[in-house]
Amino acid sequence: MGRGKHRKSTKLVFVCVGLLGAALIADLLWASTFPYKSSSSSTLAFNSNYPHPSSNSSAKEEVTDKKDGVHGRILSKTFADLPGPQLKWDRMSESPVPRLDGAAIQIKDQLFVFAGYGTIDLVHSHVDVYNFTSNTWSARFDMPKEMAHSHLGMVTDGRYIYIVTGQYGPQCRGPTAHTFVLDTKTKKWQDMPPLPVPRYAPATQLWRGRLHVMGGSKENRYTPGVDHWSIAVKDGRVLDKEWRTEMPIPRGGPHRACVVVDDRLYVIGGQEGDFMAKPNSPIFKCSRRNEVVYSDVYMLDDEMKWKVLPPMPKPDSHIEFAWAVVNNSIVIAGGTTEKHPETKKMILVGEIFQFHLDTMKWAVVGKLPYRVKTTLVGFWDGWLYFTSGQRDRGPDDPTPKKVIGEMWRTKLSLPLS
Ligand SMILES: *[C@@H]1O[C@H](CO)[C@@H](O)[C@H](O)[C@H]1NC(C)=O
Ligand SMILES: *[C@@H]1O[C@H](CO)[C@@H](O)[C@H](O)[C@H]1NC(C)=O
Ligand SMILES: *[C@@H]1O[C@H](CO)[C@@H](O)[C@H](O)[C@H]1NC(C)=O
Repeated sequence: MGRGKHRKSTKLVFVCVGLLGAALIADLLWASTFPYKSSSSSTLAFNSNYPHPSSNSSAKEEVTDKKDGVHGRILSKTFADLPGPQLKWDRMSESPVPRLDGAAIQIKDQLFVFAGYGTIDLVHSHVDVYNFTSNTWSARFDMPKEMAHSHLGMVTDGRYIYIVTGQYGPQCRGPTAHTFVLDTKTKKWQDMPPLPVPRYAPATQLWRGRLHVMGGSKENRYTPGVDHWSIAVKDGRVLDKEWRTEMPIPRGGPHRACVVVDDRLYVIGGQEGDFMAKPNSPIFKCSRRNEVVYSDVYMLDDEMKWKVLPPMPKPDSHIEFAWAVVNNSIVIAGGTTEKHPETKKMILVGEIFQFHLDTMKWAVVGKLPYRVKTTLVGFWDGWLYFTSGQRDRGPDDPTPKKVIGEMWRTKLSLPLS
């Protein structure tokens, strides 16, 4: 005991400095998340103590070992980028508002774009509609006052949009249990039975006549939930009195893609952990916590047992509305991958992935114009569209910066294999 005492206290000092450092980095990351907020010079000074990884983009994916071995290896900032074909992108007309962590549902040639943060202190409470035929933002209407503003679960049957739970309010407030149905023909909203408990960014789909909700985080935004519920729905009406408990998902957590193709339900990517409100903060100020990002793919089929399928080419999260089904495959655009091992900064994803449902193989089928997370994707007449989310700082810096409203499209060529 005596021998270790001094070391112990030294260690404690290091731990404290480490924690302080983590808190400052968290602040810096939120500052970088929302460029409107100015960051203090002390935060910037602190950051300059960190090793600056090479900004040479041609040195991508290279791992360099420092000769002295004391500081360990230095990784390029862009080490997580994967090679992929460059695509030709057209810039279309910009969304009326920038949004982060919004939701989108496509019905034929219309993309309904919901909610989202404009800044960390401002959330949207309306729907913008983009028409893929006229290529214009063609309508706008309000959401119910009680509906969550970000991190919603959402799915459509082709006319009605079912909306479950999600975060209510700005900063890092918790989720609500409220659920709604929108009739996209009449633009009328109705209540549905609330989810048994609120969930943050749960995986949501319609499967075999039932609305399924699973995973996500619990009320504190951080703790992964593995619960899975369903309720029977038809043409915008709920047929059950209450939610039914279903088989828990093997891994919980928010920000996954959840897709049904050919009567099979897939849950892809996502993470455990997320930003949380600072204890006792009256505005629920966000503070960063540890997150682990996954490449996992789970599937439910006739056997009603969760099956594990081949993982994504790299861990990918913040993709809940960043997918489209094209030619018997699932296409996923952007996201976030594991944090940088040295700087601990959040790393955005700039690839488009394709999961072939016949061969169960993944491929990188293209690069986005930049790396972007929580982007909202649609597919119409051979074109892949994306709008909104948060983009990177530039080709050599994959950390998040600007919240965008830009709309882009590219002609896809993904022949049936
Ligand atoms: C970038 O790295 C490559 C390969 O390591 C090197 O050939 C090139 O000169 C570097 N460019 C700059 C601008 O440092
Ligand atoms: C989209 O725009 C096209 C061309 O202006 C129009 O014919 C079509 O009705 C619009 N779609 C919807 C659902 O309003
Ligand atoms: C889908 O596959 C067909 C047949 O191989 C091909 O002609 C078509 O271009 C593909 N569509 C897209 C969007 O890649």
